[in-house]
Parts: sequence; structure tokens; C-alpha cells
Amino acid sequence: MNKIHVSASTKEYDVIVGAGLDYGTLLKELHAPCKLMVVSDDTVFSLHGEKAIQSLRDAGFETKQFVFPHGEKSKNLQVAESLMIQMIEEGITKTDLLVALGGGVVGDLTGFAASVFLRGMDFVQLPTTLLAAVDSSVGGKTAVDLPNGKNMVGAFHQPIAVFCDTDKFKTLPKNIYAEGMAESIKYGLIYDAELFEQIKVHEISDADLVKRCVEIKAEVVAKDEFDKGPRHILNFGHTLGHAVETLSEYNIGHGQGVAVGMAVVCAALLSEEETETVLDVLKNNDLPVKTEFDLHELALQAKADKKRHGDLIRVVLPKTIGEVFLKDVTIEEWENIIRKGLESIR
Ligand code: GLY
Repeated sequence: MNKIHVSASTKEYDVIVGAGLDYGTLLKELHAPCKLMVVSDDTVFSLHGEKAIQSLRDAGFETKQFVFPHGEKSKNLQVAESLMIQMIEEGITKTDLLVALGGGVVGDLTGFAASVFLRGMDFVQLPTTLLAAVDSSVGGKTAVDLPNGKNMVGAFHQPIAVFCDTDKFKTLPKNIYAEGMAESIKYGLIYDAELFEQIKVHEISDADLVKRCVEIKAEVVAKDEFDKGPRHILNFGHTLGHAVETLSEYNIGHGQGVAVGMAVVCAALLSEEETETVLDVLKNNDLPVKTEFDLHELALQAKADKKRHGDLIRVVLPKTIGEVFLKDVTIEEWENIIRKGLESIR
């Protein structure tokens, strides 16, 4: 079992990573018995819900549950409202806990509800996907989507703990596992060339991969919890990635979108040799490296980006494998970068 400590300015907490974690035992060490509202989606709950609930009950917690249809289309204000109405009906109070059992959608929506219900309550993340484990469950970004864009309404609200059971990854379909690989490759590209190399040669276990990615995320979040500057590097591949996701009406997954986003900016700015390496690593991990969406439409989507200020959007660009830089560009400049990248991938 590995423990990674996160020192955010608003909360200190641990991320526990291991195979076959007993959620109830871990939570009991941290929190007195209370009511838990366990939030999950139908897919995850049917696979892991019963065992998780039993473990939490055995540890002395009273559990209630809220299960919603899986997928990004559920990450909206209406589902968050239904959850909060049920919390009131079940008598959940501020001293109880919300528990997110699932992937990024479950974690983001549960964290959002925790940030606003009764003006804020504590929550725990139990990530069941590689993507949630390495990225969305850690760092306190919570949100729901609006019809106009992804994560448009949200808050920074850190969990009190993250318990990541890597056994849960065994039930992931190939495309969902690949989404987590996209975010993991991201950490290699932005911060750690050695990690990128380990991924390239398939020399890293799931547990070590999650540990290293969470260590990097914890370092970045400790520097800039509220995403004012240094944390922007975690957005590598995301500006174009979100555009691909949105234009596909969420039929293309977040990780696949991010993979395209990373491939395109690497192809636009890195040497031919490094670009080839990046594209190979993405493809070898079942990830796409290009998109058929209209170039202009892709660039325009950046207008909905949260890192836009005035006419400029902040994008994250690669310097070399393991290092990136931030640049403020106009939509036209952004379109030129995407064009250049897409042309050299063809
Ligand atoms: N997923 C990007 C961040 O947490 O800042």
C-alpha cells in the first residue's frame, strides 16, 4: 500500500493506493461513524457497489446510495440537484459524508455537490478508473457541465481522503483504461521524461503508475491549488481535447480527446523524432492521435475555455518530452498551431 500526502492550502489529506483496499477499515481510521451518501453510476455500482457498501457498513457507517446513468451526459446540474434533494430526504447533515465511488464523472459531480450542499460538507473519493485515480480524484477540482461547455460550473473543494483500489481497474473496458493512460502519458510529457520512458517500454505497474502520477499532481497542486498559473500545465492536451469531446457530443471520451490534443501540439512543436515517439506511445496505448473535426470549429471551441482572458487563451505547449511552457495566444494563432500539428500527423 502506498500513501501520498497532498498539501493543498485548504486541506491536507492522503491518497492511499493499493490492491484490494478495504474502504470501511480505511475510512474508520479517519472519521467517526456517520451517515454516508454513496454516489455512483449504474455501471460501477453493478460491479463494485455491493462490496463497497458492505465494507462501509461493517465498519459502522450507515449508508444511503444515489446511482445515476453512467456517462458525461449525466454530469449536469439536474443530476446534482436530484442528488441533493435525495440527501435532504435521507436526512444527510453537514457532519455526514459524501462518497464518490466511480470514475471522473462520479467524482466531479459528487465533489460539486459536497462543495455546495449546506454551503459545503466533506467527501471522500474512491476512484475506480485509472483516469480518476491519476487525475480527477486528486486536487479538488469539482464541476458539472453546462450545454455550452464542460466543467463550466464548479468549485475547488478538496476531498478528505482518496482511497484507490487498483483491483478495480481489472474490470475496465479497454477504451476506459486507455483514457487513464492518456492522462498518465500527460504527466510524463509535462513533468517527468523518466515516467514517459517507463510507460513507453511498459515497465511500470498500475500501482506505481498511479503513485508517480499522484506525486506529480500533489506537487503541482501544492504550488497552485486555485489554478492561477503553475497548475495550468496539467491542462496539457486539454484545450483541444475538450473541443474534440464537445464537438463529438461526448461520444469521444475525455482521455481520447486529450490524446488527440497532446498529439497535435507535439506534432506542431516537437522535432520529428520526438513527435514520432509520442505518437507511437499514444497509439500503442490504444489512443487516437488525430481528429476529423473541422479545424476552425476546433479552434473556436477554445472560446469556452476557462483559461481564456479577453481575446487570449492560455495554452500549454511542449518544449521537449518532459517539459512544457504556457503561452497566451489568439484564436487565430491557436488555429495555426492546430493546423500545423494536424498536417504533420497526416
Ligand atoms: N485535471 C487538471 C487539474 O486538476 O488541474
